[in-house]
Amino acid sequence: MHLQQPWRPSTRDFFNYNRLVMLNRLGDPWIPGLQVFALGKERLLGVENTILVTGGAGFIGSNFILGWMEREDGRVVNLDKLTYAGNPRNLQRVFSNPRYTFVKGDIGDRKLVAESLLTHKPRAVLHFAAESHVDRSILGPDDFVRTNVHGTFSLLEEARAYWLKLNASDQESFRFLQVSTDEVYGSLGAHDSAFTELTAYAPNSPYSASKAAADHLVRAYHHTYQLPTLTTNCSNNYGPFQFPEKLIPLMILNARSGKPLPIYGDGKNLRDWLYVGDHCEALRTVLAGGQPGSTYNVGGWNEKTNLEIVETICSLLDEFCPKDPVVPHRNLINFVTDRPGHDRRYAIDARKIERDLQWHPRETFESGIRKTIFWCLENDEWTKEVTSGAYRQWMETQYAARDTRARAI
Ligand code: NAD
Ligand code: TYD
Repeated sequence: MHLQQPWRPSTRDFFNYNRLVMLNRLGDPWIPGLQVFALGKERLLGVENTILVTGGAGFIGSNFILGWMEREDGRVVNLDKLTYAGNPRNLQRVFSNPRYTFVKGDIGDRKLVAESLLTHKPRAVLHFAAESHVDRSILGPDDFVRTNVHGTFSLLEEARAYWLKLNASDQESFRFLQVSTDEVYGSLGAHDSAFTELTAYAPNSPYSASKAAADHLVRAYHHTYQLPTLTTNCSNNYGPFQFPEKLIPLMILNARSGKPLPIYGDGKNLRDWLYVGDHCEALRTVLAGGQPGSTYNVGGWNEKTNLEIVETICSLLDEFCPKDPVVPHRNLINFVTDRPGHDRRYAIDARKIERDLQWHPRETFESGIRKTIFWCLENDEWTKEVTSGAYRQWMETQYAARDTRARAI
């Protein structure tokens, strides 16, 4: 923990701050003379070391913010629209910390983004905000294009406008970090080598296509405008605060309540799993030492079939929760109709980040899944809260569309 004096605004700070906001509202906050006058000599609100996080109320973003605030100094501004996947309760631990600011809003709202950048003057933008669930992208791709493609474009435009106004040394140290996925690379055959940073993009779902489009925009903003960008392509994450529409938390939730565990197709699709804390550490590492314009693959060298994952969860729950309604939990496994266009295999070659930045995952799958199950058992209030009305509606639509009669394989 870093002990530091809490920041207390002086009367002069209030005067400068209000003036800055007023100029911003007038439409041209960047009139140089006025800006200098408004800011005075001292900078406002700890501008030296502030980061702007988008989508920080979601699964990975909230883990990132909690980890960042324990380890790093400076302020964190979290810009989040609070969609179904965003939950401010994830950040309860830091809510009253003066170093944390929450801004409710859409990354596609350019005025709000411009105002947030101007007001908080971050040294970096970490862009997590996205629609992130493949199944939802299949049932309704519009929001994916709106947020992941157009939203990222808006954010890039405003980040670029802001970056251009910084002095030379602040421009040089500024970073825009795009948090992306391995799904942009498409699907691997059983004997193909794992994805490297040079693998061509071949996205297959509306989700991965929208993330690929966003990554391309980020790349172009570096190539064309020299915006100092970084991109990370990470494999499947799991851990605390993951919304129970994704495989691991859904299976834990259903297994505990004696509901079927719906496995798509033959259950032999392979994913490469990484504990969320390791992903967050990789992001801090890339932000600190990544080469502007570069991309880094992040993965845990943990390829597992979906069936292996579900069986592992079941046997751990047999051990921890022997009094659950259905034990052994594996009796709940239910093979259902496959996801349309279901990618067969993802695997990440993480040698670049290991070699260049000395990042290595700390958790094995065995240690990470135990931590995750413990967290779920200790936080069933959180799960109850996020699985209210809208969630139930989603589950009905999603799984009613599938043939859920148990099928032998
Ligand atoms: P999530 O769905 O849990 O959270 C997304 C967050 O973004 C939510 O808080 C939501 O309210 C917010 N958001 C959505 N639309 C927004 C908008 N228009 N404006 C502002 N905020 C908005 O997602 P996650 O699993 O935490 O993923 C975070 C990022 O990491 C995504 O970009 C995703 O593509 C990427 N990623 C995820 C995984 C994974 O396994 N979950 C793996 C690799 C990469
Ligand atoms: P998911 O957690 O949705 O992540 P992604 O599609 O981004 O990899 O799914 C992980 C794997 O688990 C994927 O192969 C689909 C499969 N899956 C099921 O078999 N059943 C389910 O109910 C869900 C949600 C996913």
